[in-house]
Amino acid sequence: MFVMRQILRIITSCVLVAFLSSCGFLKKKDVPPAPVKVPVTVPKSSNYTAMNLNRAPMRNPNIALSGSFQKTQVSHSSGNRSKPYIAMTFDDGPHPVHTPRLLDMLKRRNIKATFYVIGNKVEQYPHIVRRIVAEGHEIGNHTWKHDNLQKLSGPQVLADLKRSTNAIAKVTGVRPRTMRPPYGALYNTQRQMIMDNLGMPSIFWDVDPQDWKRPGPSVVASRIVQGTKPGSIVLAHDLHGPTVDAMPAALDGLLRKGHQFVTVSQLLAEK
Ligand code: NI
Repeated sequence: MFVMRQILRIITSCVLVAFLSSCGFLKKKDVPPAPVKVPVTVPKSSNYTAMNLNRAPMRNPNIALSGSFQKTQVSHSSGNRSKPYIAMTFDDGPHPVHTPRLLDMLKRRNIKATFYVIGNKVEQYPHIVRRIVAEGHEIGNHTWKHDNLQKLSGPQVLADLKRSTNAIAKVTGVRPRTMRPPYGALYNTQRQMIMDNLGMPSIFWDVDPQDWKRPGPSVVASRIVQGTKPGSIVLAHDLHGPTVDAMPAALDGLLRKGHQFVTVSQLLAEK
């Protein structure tokens, strides 16, 4: 009886499969034809190189380094030259269009950078500053409104930096650990005073592509890739569209050379 029932069940399923096949249910789906690649011709006189859109960008390794550094040195323009780490820094933002665009580029490459933001712009675009922090980047203090600090008194400098730190802390919940003076203008006595009163080292750079003069994205990218060495701190401005346009080539070029991206605090901790 049991065997008979089993045989009946098998016959029923065979009939069902045959029926479905005849209706077209179990037919293999048609494979779409491979996309036809249209050759792109570029005039020989042009320096333009077509971007390879088929290739995924290279990715920075996940780097778990401490960000606690010694506060013995009042200013820095580079990190450890015998380790593979570098720090990208972006000044004068946040910018409502260019900063989010840059954040997308960094995210695709798993690169953490440091943003030296201007206090009053933090108040203007709090959501962008929150995104910077949420995506693992570091925030640095670039003063309240980009004044030349060499023209201010000691108390004025401290009040300016505190105001900016408070604006950052209010919208993100984190306090900046380093500062960068606008125009790189800061007396040694002021650097010492900022360290003594606010515990922040002043951060300069050793690679300056002069991107604010807008020499064009390819020039900015090649200056960054050529100039960067292990331990470098690279200066750039997310305020300028062409600088952000230069970043895919600059970041990919640096990754190809074996540089590993960390934040400024991590770079100082490795010194
Ligand atoms: Ni600046």
